[in-house]
Amino acid sequence: MNEKGLPEKELFDELGFFSGADTNFKKVFSSMCTIPHPIAVAAQQLFSHSNVGDPGLFQGTCRMEAEIIRMSASFLNHSDPNTAFGHLTSGGTESNIEAVLHMKNRFLSSFFDADGETENQLNQLNQLSKLNLVLPKTAHFSFEKIANLLDIELKKADIDSKFKVVPESAESLIDENTIGLIGIAGNTEFGSCDPIDSLSEIAVRHDLPLHVDAAFGGFIYPFLPESDKNSGIKFAFDCQGVTSVSIDPHKTGLSVIPGGVLIFRNESVLSPSLDKIKVKTPYLTSKYQSTLTGTRPGSSVAAAYAVMKHLGAEGYRKNVAYCMDLTCHFQKELSKINLKPYVNPEINIITVSVGDGKDKDADREKTEQIRSRLLEKYGWNVSAAKTAPVLRFVLMPHVTKEDITAMISDLKELLESENRI
Ligand SMILES: Cc1ncc(COP(=O)(O)O)c(C=O)c1O
Repeated sequence: MNEKGLPEKELFDELGFFSGADTNFKKVFSSMCTIPHPIAVAAQQLFSHSNVGDPGLFQGTCRMEAEIIRMSASFLNHSDPNTAFGHLTSGGTESNIEAVLHMKNRFLSSFFDADGETENQLNQLNQLSKLNLVLPKTAHFSFEKIANLLDIELKKADIDSKFKVVPESAESLIDENTIGLIGIAGNTEFGSCDPIDSLSEIAVRHDLPLHVDAAFGGFIYPFLPESDKNSGIKFAFDCQGVTSVSIDPHKTGLSVIPGGVLIFRNESVLSPSLDKIKVKTPYLTSKYQSTLTGTRPGSSVAAAYAVMKHLGAEGYRKNVAYCMDLTCHFQKELSKINLKPYVNPEINIITVSVGDGKDKDADREKTEQIRSRLLEKYGWNVSAAKTAPVLRFVLMPHVTKEDITAMISDLKELLESENRI
């Protein structure tokens, strides 16, 4: 560090330089985040000092956090949103970690009675083989981290041709060491929603918790146009077996980064596990803390609160209608160059195969080659999926129809130069 501080003008010149090296979201089809709504940015600035990890000092921000949980539970079809229980996190990864941590604690708690652990129970516990979590093959990579962090085996259930989990496969993987189930509403690569109602029945049948990772789809599925065949799809608390749902304001919720929301059906679904994560906080204004992180940004709470209040359901419906219109337009433009989606998009993610379908490895290589040429030659940021050898395009609010036309024209030129079409 320099001995003397930089004058403001010099400093901001430097910041401008760094900011110029970041994306401004032009030509970005790869991101699940977008430019935050200006209302969210303004609210973030107003609460830059706020810490919801110290609730007594920031009672106002904590009230907003509670209201975010209530509003979210409400559009996630909770029968009594006031009884939902949750908090803001840094995003989908942290929400998933915490949801699985509670599953593990709940499972382990079943070995102890109210009087605490007996020697016999501890012996039983030591003899357990590794605990496991049943989840779709399409689950986000955050679950790989969770497996390492929490020492849990991931049992990956098969997926069908639409990249949705096959419920029978998930059920067949459950054994006496299973701590819970995961379903995804809007998977990362294809945007598909798993059959959560079927997973829910399985969860109830086996008395297991079911966490729905709706990090991407949480602000999309509930707001699809009524005419859409997936409008009204059941993926949240209206499925009896769903114990928790995570949604990300910093993705499709149009709020600032970091901004995730983790919501449990109620505090009692957590009661045995909550005790294990709850710690006494003698030097804070609260008696206990039961969140994974300590200091938490009240600025993110204010931002999410502001944008949710400002847009309302009507605003999110407009946003989703815009993204779905882009998705339709993208599909039409693709057909003009004889390409079609690899799987019919349910929401605003389109995947496209650029290989000949004869050899998966060759197709993967081709996809990677096209992806990197699109970036190097034309400046387009596109990603490639892992589950299938396809290019992946996310149609977020920062994308325009003009962008799509220009991108498709470049893709056509590139594929023609590679003798593909
Ligand atoms: C379905 C899903 N879950 C979880 C995550 C992780 O979210 P984050 O990067 O905000 O931690 C993502 C990120 O893309 C995701 O798509």
